[in-house]
Amino acid sequence: TKLSEEQLYRPNFHFTPKANWMNDPNGMFFYNGYYHLYFQYYPDGNVWGPMHWGHAISTDMVTWVEKPIALYPDEKGYIFSGSAVVDADNTSGFGKGGKIPTIAMFTYHNMDKEKNGDVNFQSQAIAYSLDEGLTWEKYADNPVIKNPNIKDFRDPKVVWDEVNEKWIMVLAAGQEIMFYSSKNLKDWELLSNFGENIGSHDGVWECPDLFAMQVEGTDEVKWVLIVSVGKGGYNMGSATQYFVGDFDGKNFTIDPDFKNELDTNNASWIDYGKDNYAGVTWSNIPDTDGRKLFIGWMSNWQYATKVPTEKWRSSMTVARELKLTKTNNKYQLKSVPVKEISNYISKTVKKNSINIEKGKQTLLTNKKLIDFKSLDIQFTIKNLKEDTYTFCFDNKSGDAIKFGLNNNEQFFFIDRMVSGNVSFSEEFAPKISKAPFTTTENELEVRLLLDKTSIEIFYNNGETVMTEIFFPKNPIEAFSVQSENFNIEIENLIINELNF
Ligand code: FRU
Repeated sequence: TKLSEEQLYRPNFHFTPKANWMNDPNGMFFYNGYYHLYFQYYPDGNVWGPMHWGHAISTDMVTWVEKPIALYPDEKGYIFSGSAVVDADNTSGFGKGGKIPTIAMFTYHNMDKEKNGDVNFQSQAIAYSLDEGLTWEKYADNPVIKNPNIKDFRDPKVVWDEVNEKWIMVLAAGQEIMFYSSKNLKDWELLSNFGENIGSHDGVWECPDLFAMQVEGTDEVKWVLIVSVGKGGYNMGSATQYFVGDFDGKNFTIDPDFKNELDTNNASWIDYGKDNYAGVTWSNIPDTDGRKLFIGWMSNWQYATKVPTEKWRSSMTVARELKLTKTNNKYQLKSVPVKEISNYISKTVKKNSINIEKGKQTLLTNKKLIDFKSLDIQFTIKNLKEDTYTFCFDNKSGDAIKFGLNNNEQFFFIDRMVSGNVSFSEEFAPKISKAPFTTTENELEVRLLLDKTSIEIFYNNGETVMTEIFFPKNPIEAFSVQSENFNIEIENLIINELNF
């Protein structure tokens, strides 16, 4: 019997809209026990169209409940990406009768102006909610920031600057970031620009985020600036870069110890896989929690509108916790899946230590001990040799998703070239995707999450991340490992079956 599209491709634990097109995550905030996730949404088709903000809520960022559409396009334009903050002190004055307002800031994209060749087609606007994000009222005097003759002028992300007691907003403008500030979320003042001579400039800059973070294990606080770039990612297509530095309430400056970390594209990437774009962080996470929580769109503009699902298109990545570390005088942003995912473990298979002969060896097959639908796997490879370690998920139709480490040439890889349906776009799997491997340690920690159509790999506690999607013709049913010249020593193999 042929599996339906739902059975074969609807992810088990990655957010997808029930129907139709989704792109960027928008306006994420936490309030009163709920994580809110809005998203770029076209409810009338399965390709990009007039943008709305769809909405979903969750108590743990893992299981989501889709809610009614939050923002509809109107005569001022489509509702492009943006952010939301809880205005606890009612700085905006939108609060009424003791109700705390939530303020969303988004970009209006005016199609009529664009058609008329007017570059002023994007402007920034706000809306407020008095029922904790369920329904929204657009501000009557929108836009709050008019377009200063910059064609691409979008994706406002608002943060509260505790030190200077004002709202800061970062905006993508062409291939730069503009910084603004406000006392009331309505009147905005331009502070500075950033980005001219740094970062990847192959594409338009989009969806920035700015936040302060404590460097792990120290008292040092640094600012992280995230910037998605439309094309020119490490493996081509859209990807998200980041910068570490300082923000003095006006200017963002890169830390000299961060510049060491830039790759040949002059960039550092949050994720080296092809499918993590436009990700930003949740606002209003309580201090008692203190995490920086991130989610991205698990697709790529190269082929997002062509992926072989009909009913819905695209899903989000797993929600991730970001960590900032400094080792050997280098700052690095790491990401790992949120810990809440482990509440869904339904079965575990453990092997303390295995020594595997070179050649291909099956580690586990579907239904033998656990169900392969959703897996959270961890292990350490000991005594790394100059060899290629290939891990593989495959099935009876010969579809294979391979990943691992080429330690001769020092790179990680994902190979989805024969992962099933790949022909929908020439840019989907033209070659393997790579990430640099730079450690001097002789062991490697691996963690990965497998869903029906995605793999998210976190090496060395999130130091290097690779996220990619795939569309097999049948469900995955075996997990194997292969080396070329040496035995493989694996320790602490933990295979968790997840159940949602
Ligand atoms: C990023 C993006 C944003 C824009 C939105 C439109 O993927 O291009 O810059 O606001 O998508 O849907």
